[in-house]
Amino acid sequence: MTKIIDGKQISSEIKHEIKIQVDKIITDGGKKPHLTAILVGNDGGSESYVNFKIKDCEEVGFESSLIRFEDSVSENELLSCIEKLNNDDNVDGFIVQLPLPGHINEDNVIEAVSPSKDVDGFHPVNVGKMVTGLDTFISATPMGIVELFKRYQIETSGKNCVIIGRSNIVGRPMSILMSQKQMNSTVTVVHSGTKNIPEICKDADILIAAMGKPNFLTADMVKQGAVVIDVGTTRIKSDKTKSGFKLAGDVDYENVAPKCSYITPVPGGVGPMTRVALLLNTFKASKNR
Ligand code: GUN
Repeated sequence: MTKIIDGKQISSEIKHEIKIQVDKIITDGGKKPHLTAILVGNDGGSESYVNFKIKDCEEVGFESSLIRFEDSVSENELLSCIEKLNNDDNVDGFIVQLPLPGHINEDNVIEAVSPSKDVDGFHPVNVGKMVTGLDTFISATPMGIVELFKRYQIETSGKNCVIIGRSNIVGRPMSILMSQKQMNSTVTVVHSGTKNIPEICKDADILIAAMGKPNFLTADMVKQGAVVIDVGTTRIKSDKTKSGFKLAGDVDYENVAPKCSYITPVPGGVGPMTRVALLLNTFKASKNR
């Protein structure tokens, strides 16, 4: 029987755990953790992700703030805003929602964020700490997926884990975490340069699909009993939702699910865990300060 991994339920449990701790801090006269988000432009996807992040903060009793810029903002303006936030004692952590407009160098922006406030875990210092197994901010999606494995007690040790996609935000950090002692998987990363993706996937005990191509992972690529984690969140037009959009995963869910021991749905699988991981990182940043 296939078990459907309920990321929404697990994230609610974690939010409840955070809220209890925050309430205690406030009762004891402490300060609310404070997350700031910077949003550039009007991309519908980025806008809704940032709105969710703000709403999540309210739910657990964090303070939050949103700083908006037009698409036309210069890199220098953005960098000086980051510098201000780095030095603002009232802000525990902040994120710059990606992607940024083409005229802004994302690497410059990521490197400008103080590693101690980089709750996205994107700064090279924090990535380096993650790779070497030091305590740091781990980027939200890989961290959320690790938490799902733990809470569902899914065995990862000694398993063949295939990760589809090598992005800096998901695929690459995921591959590092899964190969570390605590997860103990044998990891293969496949990407656009890989010649025999279906054969490699077919060998996997755990498949993590994170390349952003709807329905890429089909049933013929999945071994019977595999664990399938779907990171895809492509926004596609839909006349069935209020917003006019729906999220499409990277997995052909209908045909893949019957073969799996565990699978994450889209929506309601990885997405809510990504959001709660950002809250955990913000809480950690506030405790560190
Ligand atoms: N764009 C897509 N995912 C993310 C994320 O986790 N953080 C930020 N800042 N931007 C994103």
